Amino acid sequence: MKLKELLKNVLGEEELEIAPSSFDVVGDIAIIKIPPQLEKKEKKIGEQLLKFKNVKTILKKEGKVGEEFRIRKYKFLGGEKRKETLHKEYGCRYKLNIEKVYFSPRLGSERERIVKQVKKGEKILVLFAGIGPYAIQIAKNREVDIYAIEINPKAVKYFKENTKLNKVENKIKVFEGDVREVVPSLKEKFDRIIMPLPKDGENFLDLAKLVSKKNTIIHIYIFANSRGEAIKKIDKKVINCVECGTYSRDISRYCVDFTFG
Ligand SMILES: C[S@@+](CC[C@H](N)C(=O)[O-])C[C@H]1O[C@@H](n2cnc3c(N)ncnc32)[C@H](O)[C@@H]1O
Repeated sequence: MKLKELLKNVLGEEELEIAPSSFDVVGDIAIIKIPPQLEKKEKKIGEQLLKFKNVKTILKKEGKVGEEFRIRKYKFLGGEKRKETLHKEYGCRYKLNIEKVYFSPRLGSERERIVKQVKKGEKILVLFAGIGPYAIQIAKNREVDIYAIEINPKAVKYFKENTKLNKVENKIKVFEGDVREVVPSLKEKFDRIIMPLPKDGENFLDLAKLVSKKNTIIHIYIFANSRGEAIKKIDKKVINCVECGTYSRDISRYCVDFTFG
């Protein structure tokens, strides 16, 4: 079932041209961005979205994404009135409130790309860990020891709950706080470090270096115009660079895998 086809039930031809052609689904919540010109029809758009299988709640994206916790407001458009859900992905389950914590359902395959590289016995550090999808997806599939740091207390609460939900609580140590304070207090060096803060993660490379060995592999996420620009921003011994999603018309999310050498 195509969204645009469904929207023909409630929108005219000109309205259809500016209508969204896709939406995200987190658990059983559909999340849609609606242009201001279609605001008067937003409830009707919501009603159509409820026709999709397994969708029980419709939320509309509002305002900008906040600087620190990377969260935003959502307006309720229809269905069950709630913002908490259970999202299932790659054999893992994540409980979360979409308005209180960051979560993207578009990164599962990128997380799987990382999982495939992880070897038995690795010690892994996840900075900017959110509700734990990187740490949990890896721990569910590999015998590893993971440390993870997150500053948003609500994300940490869900993260800890999600480690239990996925039965990996013995493999992951969750730290609540600012990476700038927590990382220097760690007494460990890591085999792999994951840095999923594409807005300005490159400003935290000094911290990654502090807990790296010569061959530690760093996976850093970066917003850039091109692969070349992403690699240039890092300027280290780059192993690989992949595009993993778009941010805006000109800017994509890249993951640069590198070592400090
Ligand atoms: C883009 S989200 C990624 C979350 C998670 N890794 C995921 O993929 O769902 C970035 C996360 O970093 C957290 N964060 C931002 N600055 C931080 C800091 N200085 N120390 C620790 N966590 C931070 C935010 O609260 C947010 O949850």
